[in-house]
Amino acid sequence: MMSGFSLEWLNLREAADQRARNPHLREQALHWLGLGSAGAEQQIGDAIVVDLGAGSGSTLRALSAPGSQNLVWRLVDNDGLLLDEALRRHGKHYRIEDYQSDLGVIGELPLGGARLVTASALFDLMPADFIDALVKRLALFRTRMANGLYAALNYDGTTVWNPAHSYDGVVLAAFNEDQRRDKGAGLALGPDAGNYLAAALKQAGFSVQTAASPWRLGAADTRMVEALITGIADAVASHAGIDDTLLANWLNFRLAHAASGTCTVGHLDVLALP
Ligand SMILES: C[S@@+](CC[C@H](N)C(=O)[O-])C[C@H]1O[C@@H](n2cnc3c(N)ncnc32)[C@H](O)[C@@H]1O
Repeated sequence: MMSGFSLEWLNLREAADQRARNPHLREQALHWLGLGSAGAEQQIGDAIVVDLGAGSGSTLRALSAPGSQNLVWRLVDNDGLLLDEALRRHGKHYRIEDYQSDLGVIGELPLGGARLVTASALFDLMPADFIDALVKRLALFRTRMANGLYAALNYDGTTVWNPAHSYDGVVLAAFNEDQRRDKGAGLALGPDAGNYLAAALKQAGFSVQTAASPWRLGAADTRMVEALITGIADAVASHAGIDDTLLANWLNFRLAHAASGTCTVGHLDVLALP
């Protein structure tokens, strides 16, 4: 099965991810870095961006704009192969510092001097105490230097298929429960992550905006949709409350409509600035 962090899966979802990011929050994140149409007049110079769970560099690509090569991109991930891939793709054109480390060890995260901490498709994998500790550290650093957080594509628990199938609701409930499993760092927040993160940042005194960033998947995304369907079926297969025959029926139906149907998967983007 394709793992949630395999390069193959990240490549398959890349185009849908980039389309899904909320453009308004992306533009404001660029502005905070002195980039993009609205920020071009404000030169920030060698600002540091720390991308948590960077994978192959999707956030760097999403925030690429005239001047983004002048930023320092500090990419953090515990998967050395994904970091190697990010360096392979961007190391000759961007100023990249790669850090292979576990996000769970918050005290060792290289957040110092960051103007913007970023993440995408990450916080729904993480537990509440990770978010609490991270926000606490960001608030502490803010007393020395203005910093912000841009967290895109936090899964919100909604998935709508067209055409519908009578087992969609049962499968989604089981899948959302699976999303709260321990993904390596403790019990994950899953669909609650975006709102939890926004509330924690507000409480710490940041000015917070949230905006929807759904995947809108159609014929152009058939391979990704097929992988999504099989990934969901694998995730829920051993779940109490899932009937093997009904799941097999759902899987066959979904795969048969992967090319002709549509699927909308909800996400929440979060931008916090001082
Ligand atoms: C769903 S992928 C998203 C990757 C990338 N941000 C993107 O949008 O394509 C989650 C990433 O977080 C990393 N990751 C997950 N748990 C981690 C942990 N505890 N410490 C460090 N990295 C972690 C994975 O290796 C993976 O690269």
